Amino acid sequence: MSVTEQPAPAPGQDPDGDAAADQLRDRISADSLTTRRDYLRIVATVSGGLAVGGVGVAAGILHRHGDSEKLPEAKLVAERLEPGQSVAFRFPEEEDRALAVRLADGTLVGYSAVCTHLACAVLWREDRGADGELYCPCHEGVFDVRTGEVTAGPPPRPLPMVFLTEQADGSVWAIATARSGEPAKDALCRQFGDSRPETAARLGCPGADRATANESGRT
Ligand code: FES
Repeated sequence: MSVTEQPAPAPGQDPDGDAAADQLRDRISADSLTTRRDYLRIVATVSGGLAVGGVGVAAGILHRHGDSEKLPEAKLVAERLEPGQSVAFRFPEEEDRALAVRLADGTLVGYSAVCTHLACAVLWREDRGADGELYCPCHEGVFDVRTGEVTAGPPPRPLPMVFLTEQADGSVWAIATARSGEPAKDALCRQFGDSRPETAARLGCPGADRATANESGRT
C-alpha cells in the first residue's frame, strides 16, 4: 500500500473515533519527545558543569585542597567522634569540603571530600568492607579510607589528607592539609616551617634547626 492510500473503515468502525485516537497517539509521542529532549539538555548541562570544574582544577584555575603554604587556623571538627561515626566539615577555607571518620578500631582519618575526578562530593560508606570505603557516587569512584588512595573508578589521584588531632577532652580538631599524594612530613613541614619552627624542628623538617637557632639568638 502506498503512503497516500488509506484503508477503508472496517464494517462497524467509526472513522471519527479512529482520527481522535490517532491524534492522541501523536500527542503522546510529541510529549515524550519533548521530555526526552529536556532530559538530555539537563544531563548535558550538568555534565558540562562537572567537566568545566574538572578542567578548571586540572589547569590550576580553581582552588585546590591543601594549596595553602601557611598554617591554617585550627578548626573544631567535632566535640567527640565515636567509632563508626563520620562528620563533614569545611577546612581550611569555607569552600573546602572535608570529611573526618573514626574507624571501628579507633583510628581517626581526615580527607578532602572533593573527588579528584570531577569534584563531586565524596561520602563514607560504612557498609562496604571492614573499614568502609570513601565513595564518589558521580562515576563510582572509590578511595581507601585508611590511605585516601584510589581503589576503583576514574579518579586520577588520591584524596588530599586533612590532619586531625584529638584533645584530652575528646574534641577533634583539623590542623593542616596535604596536597593529593603529598607525603605527610612534607605537607606538615611546608605549613609548620615558618609559623611553628619548634614543631618543625621536632618533626625533623629540613632547615628547621637553623630557624630555631636564629629565633633563640634573637631573644
Ligand atoms: Fe567522577 Fe568522582 S567525580 S568519580
